[in-house]
Amino acid sequence: MDRIRIVGGPQLTGVIPISGAKNAALPLMIASLLTDATLTLENLPRLADVNQLLRILGNQGVDYRIDGKRPGDSPTAGQTVHLDARRIVDTTAPYELVSRMRASFWVIAPLLARMGEAKVSLPGGCAIGTRPVDLLLMALERLGASIEIEAGYVIARAPQGLRGNEIDFPKVTVGGTHTALMAATLAKGHTLIRNAAREPEIVDLADCLIKMGAKIKGAGTSEIEVEGVSRLGGARHAVLPDRIETGTYAMCVAMTGGDVMLQGARADLLQSALDAISASGAQIISNDEGIRVVRKSGGIVPVDVTTEPYPGFPTDLQAQFMGLMTMAGGESRIRETIFENRFMHVQELARFGAKIRLDNDMAIVTGVRTLKGAPVMATDLRASASLVVAALAAEGETIVNRVYHLDRGFEHLEQKLAACGAIVERQSLGG
Ligand code: UD1
Repeated sequence: MDRIRIVGGPQLTGVIPISGAKNAALPLMIASLLTDATLTLENLPRLADVNQLLRILGNQGVDYRIDGKRPGDSPTAGQTVHLDARRIVDTTAPYELVSRMRASFWVIAPLLARMGEAKVSLPGGCAIGTRPVDLLLMALERLGASIEIEAGYVIARAPQGLRGNEIDFPKVTVGGTHTALMAATLAKGHTLIRNAAREPEIVDLADCLIKMGAKIKGAGTSEIEVEGVSRLGGARHAVLPDRIETGTYAMCVAMTGGDVMLQGARADLLQSALDAISASGAQIISNDEGIRVVRKSGGIVPVDVTTEPYPGFPTDLQAQFMGLMTMAGGESRIRETIFENRFMHVQELARFGAKIRLDNDMAIVTGVRTLKGAPVMATDLRASASLVVAALAAEGETIVNRVYHLDRGFEHLEQKLAACGAIVERQSLGG
């Protein structure tokens, strides 16, 4: 099992290339199940979650081919993958494969829409709250599926095909919107999704589905309309840049000070987070190359944030922002409204000497002058990133254990940080 050693202190200076977004790559890969033609995805990040999903899709009968490296490619250049679901051999997604990554549950939508049935294990994934799938199933039922739950599996059936309908989400759900959108593309007739998630990854999926021949209007707003078609074709699509990776590195620079160009990043994908980072005292300059983050002098200013569905402050950056606030010159309040148990990083940040008090869905952070390096444990994907933010500015050595959580969502993290002057290395312990 690997761990990461960080010695805090150095300012970060240089260039960090931003990878394709994990949370767009996963639904885009799943969309390959909707067609018997080839879907080519470019700029796919090299991540454990992407590899795991390739295994799941392979089990369904999807053939895939990953293009080899081209001369002059940088080690961080995204990969191009061709997915071909001509023959789906299995409409079951088993527990062993699905339990490790929640998003893999979403295969239920294209399998059901194209094959008329799907049997998918109830999901696992990050241990942040209960994370039910009731709304995903409600959406499929609205489209005419019958749903049974048996021995930990959801069995969805629509032997005559799905039928368009109105789907009204009582709560904004990214996975629910992806699921409804994919299923509706092959349903007969018209579907209206109300209170849809507006995340950029939804827009990226819709753009790709439209290239495949789907008829979709309104993605990126809270009402999405889909006119079902009988068949979708192939397409070529490049995954959009990862806004969570972008925000995480921006917070690292705001924490250590320095001057870093986040190459390929798009400010419009994370404006609310960039606003919070600039309120904390860093300068954000956005241009054609990417986003430059500069903090030369002056301390970190405390800033209050509340997580909200897009375009609000993303829950996936909450932990990292709390890491930054641990060294602010005063008190900040961080409210988590999306997931009920997403404060597991608090006790690990306390190991650096951070002062954080929890009051229901609110963390009250009192900034300290210095953090001290410590052995810490990554608990989930984004929480682990907050430990990296803290470690980069902490005095002395930090060992982050259980880095497989980081590997799920951050490509070449230690190389990207080391290239900007951080003292960081991976230690492989074998076993
Ligand atoms: C996606 C992201 C995840 C991010 C989250 C919120 C991916 C692969 N993952 O997760 O990184 O943190 O959006 O931005 O894109 N809910 C229900 N019933 C349901 C579904 C969801 O009650 O059937 C609740 C959840 O418990 C949560 C809220 O709705 O409180 C939002 O969850 P959702 O947007 O669905 O998150 P995911 O799609 O799982």
